[in-house]
Amino acid sequence: MRAARWCIATMLAGAAPLMAQAAGQTPPKGATASAVAHPETWPVLAMQRQRDPRVEARVDAVLKRMTIEDKVGQLLQVDIASITPADLETYKLGSILNGGNSAPNNDEFAPAAEWLKLFDRFYDASVKRSDSRPVIPVIWGTDAVHGANNIVGATLFPQNIGLGAMRDPALLRRIGAATAAETAATGIDWSFAPTVAVVQDDRWGRTYESYSEEPAVVASYAGAMVEGVQGRVGDDFMKPGHVISSVKHFLADGGTGGRDQGDARVSEATLREVHAAGYTTALPAGALTVMPSFSSWNGTKMTGNKSILTGVLKERWGFDGFAVGDWNAHGQVPGCTNEDCPAAINAGLDMFMYSGPGWKQLYANTLREAKDGTIPAARLDDAVRRILRVKVLAGTFDAGRPSSRPLAGKFDLLGSAEHRAIARQAVRQSLVLLKNQGGLLPLKASANVLVAGRGADDIGMQSGGWTLTWQGTGVTNANFPNGQSIWRGIDEAVRTGGGKATLAVDGRYTAKPDVAVVVFGETPYAEFSGDRPTLEYSPDDKSDLELLRKLKAAGVPTVAVFLSGRPMWVNPELNAADAFIAAWLPGSEGGGVADVLVGERDGRARNDFKGTLSFSWPKRLDQYTLNRRDAGYDPLFPFGYGLTYAKGGSVPRLDETRPAAAGGDQNALFVRGRLAPGARVVNDGAVTVTRIDRLAQEDSLRLAFAGAGSVALQQTQAIDVSREANGQLSLLVDYRVTGVPAGQVTLGMAGGKTARVPITGVLKAAGGDWAQLVVPLSCFADGGVGMGGVTRPAVIASTGPLGIDISGIRIASAPGPVTCGTR
Ligand code: BGC
Ligand code: BGC
Repeated sequence: MRAARWCIATMLAGAAPLMAQAAGQTPPKGATASAVAHPETWPVLAMQRQRDPRVEARVDAVLKRMTIEDKVGQLLQVDIASITPADLETYKLGSILNGGNSAPNNDEFAPAAEWLKLFDRFYDASVKRSDSRPVIPVIWGTDAVHGANNIVGATLFPQNIGLGAMRDPALLRRIGAATAAETAATGIDWSFAPTVAVVQDDRWGRTYESYSEEPAVVASYAGAMVEGVQGRVGDDFMKPGHVISSVKHFLADGGTGGRDQGDARVSEATLREVHAAGYTTALPAGALTVMPSFSSWNGTKMTGNKSILTGVLKERWGFDGFAVGDWNAHGQVPGCTNEDCPAAINAGLDMFMYSGPGWKQLYANTLREAKDGTIPAARLDDAVRRILRVKVLAGTFDAGRPSSRPLAGKFDLLGSAEHRAIARQAVRQSLVLLKNQGGLLPLKASANVLVAGRGADDIGMQSGGWTLTWQGTGVTNANFPNGQSIWRGIDEAVRTGGGKATLAVDGRYTAKPDVAVVVFGETPYAEFSGDRPTLEYSPDDKSDLELLRKLKAAGVPTVAVFLSGRPMWVNPELNAADAFIAAWLPGSEGGGVADVLVGERDGRARNDFKGTLSFSWPKRLDQYTLNRRDAGYDPLFPFGYGLTYAKGGSVPRLDETRPAAAGGDQNALFVRGRLAPGARVVNDGAVTVTRIDRLAQEDSLRLAFAGAGSVALQQTQAIDVSREANGQLSLLVDYRVTGVPAGQVTLGMAGGKTARVPITGVLKAAGGDWAQLVVPLSCFADGGVGMGGVTRPAVIASTGPLGIDISGIRIASAPGPVTCGTR
């Protein structure tokens, strides 16, 4: 009875399953929790790329000669950290990829030539065949999401959120083409871009990968980007210099309530009208691949949702390219593991994206299932046909060795003057002027300018995640031979104009400057490690605000340049600055900021602001689901807002009241005096623990070791930090030494085993100021700690007397390069 009622509800309204779940009724076992009920209401898309009978004939000819082993091989894409070229001599796999942390020789800074060389080796192995079966070259996929961002020297374009502020599809097309050309220089034939998420909750760590909260903006961009990357159908489609694109993450990755890999609890109508927007232009433009999302729709994983993958994408929309999985996402489909998942293939996934040691198992399991009919022969052939079709259309069969391809080895394309000029134009156009009190901007080029703030001279910080490393952390300016920091750009412009610029990250000066530019904001993150509980900018560290206030108090007119991957609650910072620019994550061409900020000698503008918000800016820190179409829409700055020199405009003093932050974060182990949920402090031996004040009442711990002992954070339930470890995050401890260690001191972590890092030397050298210990989680993992079940995330042990205060313990990206050891 209950089952029947539930099914009827689903048919009547897409929102019904959500209501049923909210009421505590779970759908009956075996029922589809979120099948598209009305495919006929989804638009029919007019594809510009028609089926070409010659292509189909070639596909059929290859397919006919393939054994079932060959076919199953095509369904696998394996990360280069998990496979060697020699493996492809035996296993004829469809594709390889480099995940965000994978690179040739395990070196994220490997020169471009190494990428090309490695691809040649994989390619050669893939085409080596001594039998008469068809030769099908392997293809390599990469995340070229804001330029060819895995390659040292590449032009780094603004992240998508900044591009959204430009509202310039024509420029986007040129960015796509430049990115494709730089990718092709390394021989690589496929980019996992564009992301067409329509982000509705800005707490999500991938908000910056989204062009806009507004479906129309995403739709106006997606097709243009695909055309830039792949070329235009009927013109330069997949001609040299273009690469395969992948539209991602299908579908409603931006609707998951601010949680990475979360669940979009929305109606079918919202799925169709909001989240599908990008596909309605990307697919007609000829996108060759689509990446199903890690996330779910009303409880069902997209990667296993047949009604979406097959029903909507392939049948209703007529998509005839292939669906490539996200990183082991198939392993999250119920009943599946990373090494075994016929359900995803049967739902419509065509290629698994796999990372880990078990790809041979995935191959063997899939082969068995293809042989015993668990995966029907027709489905297998359909998947392989799609992959072959893309390979034929992309020219894979005729392109030859990667290094022999027209653009391969032309490494001067990486960061070429032409591409950098496009990126710099994009930076100029993406800046959004939020405030310009008293017309402080543009700055006179003849002025004496102080440039301050942590983001002023940091190309990594201005570029964000997916920059050389997955998280975008662990890089220095030296890793960007063709890049320019925002400071360098300002310095150049001011010097050219006869003025003088000085860099002082901490904002100190001897002679009072005419004006200060403070560059600050979010530090890089990717995916889940960027998820936040609220939109408050830097809740635990208000030093940027203090710097702005200090300059204001000293009577120095101040310009704030805010780097961020999302709109944030910055009312105090807005109040403390005379002018405020949302610069997003502009990438390698920091000079574009000065192009707009710094005027002529007499202060006339050289370039006016063009950017307007593609995301609504919050008035309160809990307005993370603020979107233009909301009933009772109440933003600080609405969608479309953006001041210009021509128009001007002023901002009144803003409310700085800060409501208590909501939501817990397991990685904030001890922050502002609060312990993470389920954590407590335990001690052992000759040590006492008391509470003291650092920034707020009793927000810190004072540890007094009279002799040997230890103090630990103990979790009631073990926490899983394997993704954090995989993502190269670190354990960060804010501390101050109050009594120099007399014995040996270690910082440890326990989960099954305990691993300890010696910190005696660091503590002895520390002096009495607040400092931070940074230990990469990988050090603990290498020491045998089970990252999937950490019971004591931080243990300080000493063999003798010691005094130490602790004001913060968290798992986060390290603010700079780290090695296994301590800093
Ligand atoms: C991300 C994708 C990316 C893939 C390969 C996944 O974790 O979600 O956006 O394309 O990894 O790096
Ligand atoms: C990879 C990324 C991937 C992520 C998924 C990382 O180790 O480098 O490409 O997106 O894992 O969690």
